[in-house]
Amino acid sequence: MSDQPRRPRKPGKPYRRPEKDPVRLLAFEALRAVDERDAYANLVLPPLLRTAREGGDFDARDAALATELVYGTLRRQGTYDAVVAACVDRPLREVDPPVLDVLGLGAHQLLGTRIPTHAAVSASVELARVVLGDGRAKFVNAVLRKVAQHDLDGWLERVAPPYDEDPEDHLAVVHSHPRWVVSALWDSLGGGRAGIEELLRADNERPEVTLVARPGRATTGELLDEEAALPGRWSPYAVRLSEGGEPGVIPAVADGRAGVQDEGSQLVALALANAPLDGPDRLWLDGCAGPGGKAALLAALAAERGAALLASEKQPHRAKLVAKVLAGNPGPYQVVAADGTRPPWRAGTFDRVLVDVPCTGLGALRRRPEARWRRRPGDLEGFAPLQRGLLRTALESVRVGGVVGYATCSPHLAETRAVVADLLKQFPDVELLDARPLLPGVPELGEGPDVQLWPHVHGTDAMYLALIRRTG
Ligand SMILES: C[S@@+](CC[C@H](N)C(=O)[O-])C[C@H]1O[C@@H](n2cnc3c(N)ncnc32)[C@H](O)[C@@H]1O
Repeated sequence: MSDQPRRPRKPGKPYRRPEKDPVRLLAFEALRAVDERDAYANLVLPPLLRTAREGGDFDARDAALATELVYGTLRRQGTYDAVVAACVDRPLREVDPPVLDVLGLGAHQLLGTRIPTHAAVSASVELARVVLGDGRAKFVNAVLRKVAQHDLDGWLERVAPPYDEDPEDHLAVVHSHPRWVVSALWDSLGGGRAGIEELLRADNERPEVTLVARPGRATTGELLDEEAALPGRWSPYAVRLSEGGEPGVIPAVADGRAGVQDEGSQLVALALANAPLDGPDRLWLDGCAGPGGKAALLAALAAERGAALLASEKQPHRAKLVAKVLAGNPGPYQVVAADGTRPPWRAGTFDRVLVDVPCTGLGALRRRPEARWRRRPGDLEGFAPLQRGLLRTALESVRVGGVVGYATCSPHLAETRAVVADLLKQFPDVELLDARPLLPGVPELGEGPDVQLWPHVHGTDAMYLALIRRTG
């Protein structure tokens, strides 16, 4: 219900029914779901788009625009909030969230797209009339007219503190990341301004869709027949879909012989599979397998060598997803729902173990546009005992001479090197292996022995991998 007082309409001004714009209505609906229900944009959007397309009033271009509006508004929320705050005469926390969503969508159209100014403002005001009512539409109109007075660079000069005064705050506003995330990424990346700016910029770009041809089940040649498909940059099993599209309709993907998988994840599985071993190479474990991307690649690689994979996952519904991805694997495998910190298997059982532990996901910000705003520094403390517990059991589960891969899709040092360093202190009979030679041709992997991938350097998620061998 509108919170505006009802006023008699002015004589001579007939009521005009607001015009519905299905693209912006859908984008608004998605933003509300993300805001109100903590939904994930990448989960909420596809069914909304499907329903709209089935309804017949949405074509592929509408779907592309709606996706761009939702992802762009969420990614750039920090910048747009700073701009909108400068155009509103009260603190943003006193503005209703649905109004902020309409303003964010409007700001994105004005500052982040080529939509002409008048069209961006009028479409936003029309959307506001439909979803917020006439009174608040006037407010939206007034704010967006102020926003439209400058372009993005002009606004950044006005609302971002100068770099020399506060580099982290400057970068946070300019590149739309929370300040603590800028700080954490910079700590891990090291170096000067250029590198961190490139990384933050890469986080705001739409990632390519990358496929994996699971060895023994599909070939990259088959996937390269798809339109606008390119070979992977680093993984011999990767194919990039340069124009995105719908990977689910590709036959090899539809029947599970191939899948959607970032090249960073493929490299983690490949490095573990290629790590030198003393002795037999028969039994592999993925201790945190859900939803199963790395397990599927590991199982296929294991099958080529006559080895078997045990894929373990704590959440039963995620274990079911793993079973679905692994179905059809050419070699032996088993899926169990088990707590990796209290495992049902005996110590010293496995030749290779992967623990791709739960983490903040700060390395995959390109894919999850809302994640950076949801995460809090306190989340790190929540993950810390679990990450250590899972690595501890992994080290106990591997046999002497076997190798453990500890992976995160976060470059935060508290989740990467700090965890590994703690466990190395507790286990005297282990050694770190140099993971870099196991990723031949991949440049700039750091000073080792662990590896850290970066979106702006490798075009992958910022995956971290340490390889640890049990020596005694
Ligand atoms: C980062 S995800 C793994 C992604 C997976 N390796 C892939 O490539 O698809 C971490 C997984 O660990 C699971 N997990 C969380 N706590 C666990 C525990 N105590 N034991 C085993 N798995 C756990 C989560 O449910 C989640 O599915």
